[in-house]
Amino acid sequence: MRRRATTTLALFLVGCTPPSDPEPETPTEPTPAIAPAFANPAEADDLDPATGILSVRLVAEDVELDVGGESVSGFAYNGQVPGPTLRASVGDTLRVELENRLAVATTIHWHGVDVPYAMDGATWQLDPVGPGETFIYEFILGEAGTFWYHPHFDTERQVDRGLYGMLIVEDPDEPEADAELVLVFDDWGESTDPDEEGDGGANHGHGAALPDPWLVSGLVGPEAVVPAGSVLRLRLLNVSNAAYADVSWPGLRQIATDQGLLPALEEPSSILLAPGDRAEAELLVGAERVELTSSAYSLNGGATPGDPTLLMSVTPEGEADAPAGLDWPWPGGTPSDDVPWTDLIYVFQGDPLTGEWLINGETYPDVTVRELPLNSDVYVTVRNLSPTEHPFHLHGHSFEVVSVGGVPSPRRTIEDTVNVRIREDLRLRLIADNPGDWMTHCHILPHAHGGMMTVLRVLDAR
Ligand code: C2O
Ligand code: CU
Repeated sequence: MRRRATTTLALFLVGCTPPSDPEPETPTEPTPAIAPAFANPAEADDLDPATGILSVRLVAEDVELDVGGESVSGFAYNGQVPGPTLRASVGDTLRVELENRLAVATTIHWHGVDVPYAMDGATWQLDPVGPGETFIYEFILGEAGTFWYHPHFDTERQVDRGLYGMLIVEDPDEPEADAELVLVFDDWGESTDPDEEGDGGANHGHGAALPDPWLVSGLVGPEAVVPAGSVLRLRLLNVSNAAYADVSWPGLRQIATDQGLLPALEEPSSILLAPGDRAEAELLVGAERVELTSSAYSLNGGATPGDPTLLMSVTPEGEADAPAGLDWPWPGGTPSDDVPWTDLIYVFQGDPLTGEWLINGETYPDVTVRELPLNSDVYVTVRNLSPTEHPFHLHGHSFEVVSVGGVPSPRRTIEDTVNVRIREDLRLRLIADNPGDWMTHCHILPHAHGGMMTVLRVLDAR
C-alpha cells in the first residue's frame, strides 16, 4: 500500500486578485500578500529512551509533492521535505535505520561528520542500499555543529528530488537561544521534469539563471512571527544542487560555519552559502521586521546583476528592545601559518558546454587514488582553472583553510565545504586522522556527476 505523504513543500500564490469589474462599486483594495507561516522541519522521534543515543528510523519513499496546486513526484524521508531534523548532543551515538522503499538504490551520507568509512554512504567499493533493503548507520557524533544528510548514490537526482535533512549536534556548553530556526535553502525549479529518468533528472541553470524562488525549509517567502526581545539561533544550510545563496539581513551576526562556532563573533555583510555549506547566526529581535534576502550570485563568477530575492521575514510580536547577544563560549585560536610547499594538489578544470568536469585531469570513477599515511599533517592546494566556481568538499575530515588566493585567513577557519573562485588557489591544512577511501569532490552536484570527484585514501596504521 502506498501512502500519499503530506509534505511541507508548497508554493503559494501571492497577491492574486480576481479580474476586476469594469465599474466597481468600491475601489478594489490590493489583496495583501500572504506569506506562509514559517515552521521548522519536523524532528525525528528518538526511538531509544536511553541518554547518549539518538536512534531514528528514516524511510526513503516516493511522494507526491504539492507544488502550487500541482502534483509533482519526488522522493522524501518519512514523507517530508526537508527530511526530519536529527538533533543530538556532542558525544552521542547516532543510530539510523534506513529503509529503502524507493524503486532505486540509495544511501545516506553524513555530510561534515567524521564517520567511519563503512558508515559514509559513499559507494566507492561499497554497495548501496537496494530497493526493499534496510541498512543501519551507527557512529559517534564527535563534533558539535550543523551538519546534514543526503544520498550519495545518483546523488544529483536524489537530492534534487527531496532527499535531504539537517543533523544538529548540540554542545551543552553553548547557551540556549529563545528559539531556533532551521533554514534549509533549496532551489526550486531544478526538478522541472518529474518524469525525466536516469541522467540527473534535473535541469540546472549553468548560465546566469538565478534561483527564483528559493525554498526555505519547503516554503516560499515564509514569515516567522516571534516575540520581540528574543534571541534566535539560525541554522542555515544550502542543499541546492547548483545555486549559491548569498544571504544577508540588517544586523547580521554570524556565530558558526560548517564545523561549529567561529573563533569569535563576526558581523559580515553577507554569508555566502555554496551548495553543501552551512552557517549559524544569532538574530536579536527588536521592534523591526527583518527580511532575509539572497543577493544575485552566480557560479560563473560571483556577484552578478539582479535584485536580491526575499528568502523569508522575521516579524516581531509585542514591544521590546533588541536583547543583547548570548554569551557564546568562543574557542578563539589563531590560524595556522601557510607553508611554502604542497603535499597534495587538486586542480579543477572543466567545460560548462560539454558538462565534463575534471580533477587533476581525471573524471570519476577513472581516478588515481592518492594515499596518505594515517595522521599525516598535510598542506593541500585546491586550484581552480575552470570557468566556474566550485565548492570543494572532502569526506571523513574537516580541514583548516589557511589562505585564499594567497591571502592568509584572518581567523582560524575549520570547514568541510569551501568555495573556490575562478582562477583562485585555496590552501588547506589537513590532518588525515580517519582511515578510509574518502570522496573528494565539487558539491555542485551536476559537476560531481560530470566527473569532478576523486578519492583520497587514508591508510590504516594497523
Ligand atoms: Cu554532501 Cu560527497 O557530499
Ligand atoms: Cu563544481
